[in-house]
Amino acid sequence: MKTLFRGGTVVSGKGTKKADVLVDGEKIVQVSRTITPQAETRVIDITGKLLLPGFIDAHTHFDLDVAGTTTADDFASGSLAALHGGTTTIIDYACPNKGESLRHGLELWHEKADGKCVCDYSFHMTIDDWNADIEREIDDMYAAGISSFKMYMTYPAMMIGDEAMYRVLKKLKEKGGICGVHCENSGVIDALVAEKKAAGENSVACHPQTRPDQLEAEAVGRLLRIAQTVDIPVIIVHMTNAAALKEVEAARKRGQKVYVETCPQYLVLDDSVYYQPDFREAAKFVCSPPIRKAADQKALWAGLRRGEIQTISTDHCSFTPEQKELGRDDFTKIPGGVPGVETRAELIYTYGVTTRKISLATMCKTLAENPAKLYGMYPRKGVIAKGSDADLVIYDPTADHELHASDMVGKAGYIPYEGFAIRGGIQQVWLRGNLVVDHGNLLSGPIGKYIPRGKNML
Ligand code: URP
Ligand code: ZN
Ligand code: ZN
Repeated sequence: MKTLFRGGTVVSGKGTKKADVLVDGEKIVQVSRTITPQAETRVIDITGKLLLPGFIDAHTHFDLDVAGTTTADDFASGSLAALHGGTTTIIDYACPNKGESLRHGLELWHEKADGKCVCDYSFHMTIDDWNADIEREIDDMYAAGISSFKMYMTYPAMMIGDEAMYRVLKKLKEKGGICGVHCENSGVIDALVAEKKAAGENSVACHPQTRPDQLEAEAVGRLLRIAQTVDIPVIIVHMTNAAALKEVEAARKRGQKVYVETCPQYLVLDDSVYYQPDFREAAKFVCSPPIRKAADQKALWAGLRRGEIQTISTDHCSFTPEQKELGRDDFTKIPGGVPGVETRAELIYTYGVTTRKISLATMCKTLAENPAKLYGMYPRKGVIAKGSDADLVIYDPTADHELHASDMVGKAGYIPYEGFAIRGGIQQVWLRGNLVVDHGNLLSGPIGKYIPRGKNML
């Protein structure tokens, strides 16, 4: 069955153009100024609407065990929330425990995801240890379509030391691989936490106070010097602040290739969220690194505008307010993470594009085109072009509304953006030629496919 999207404004990383888009089965077969439909072609009139490539969220944590609990969203509810937010492909972090093999981690993540996803999906592989077996297994990961990896410089259960980080990066260089790194200085954070506890302090505000921006910047700087030693590009995931961006700028000046990801929570919220007197309210915003100051928001938007930040993902890691209660008596036990996969695109359109902080083209690049390139899915994903998967978002710029948790399909039971005004809205979402969300209604079952990925093209 052919479908013609007629009369819309097609958005790409280069800009916008009026064009018709013809889809046959799962693929886009033609993009032209005007296309005349054949008799049996289904025609969708999208005059006055924006047509964007299905968004990619390259940073989710679904069905993840953290701090003695499991994320509220599994792959069924998380992928459903993603689709509602216009995200047609997610890349989740497969996370074997220390001592487990990468193969085991991959099998486990397939078990969690296969047959449950309503959107397409792939995995990054977390490396939290280094030994000869893991080194060998990295080759197997490429064979399984896993071309990106993750390391943590914090969290005792997952963190990796400088020596191991160097060795991992050396191996990845040999493979032409890419790695995202969570950058925070673990040792000094531990010391600051111990000081707070010794002083008998336990408010939610202790969370940002013990994880200050300079300790993220320090870790970014250290990672980049290790990457310089190996001579490999790296990705800084969920970057939050101006000082950390300065470290990237310095590395780029030295000639290094560095990719940066940020997230909506760091672009539209500030650290006043942690100073609300009610524990439940403040705890909803606990994530690491923490939400920073308004000046940092400004620096991040400028970084996006100037192309210094390449991707906006969500770090969707959802816990209900009841789960956050685990940390009522000890702020370090509040499960870290916020929901975001359902609200990302509308927030970025509203608070980025319509306020002229970034262009529509930059929105398209950071939500679709760049992650597709960086994570080896381009041009199958991330672009409206002949031969690409027909993953499409129809955005109605006139459908203004507000964000409310009660309208969400994700399982967190709250959103960090309650009551936020939204300009326009997602009207329809198409996944590989199937209409999957129409005005907020899910129309399909778990048709999500595992997407094996190739090498970085960004
Ligand atoms: O607090 C957060 N962000 N939790 C998710 C895991 C991570 O650090 O990415
Ligand atoms: Zn992280
Ligand atoms: Zn994360």
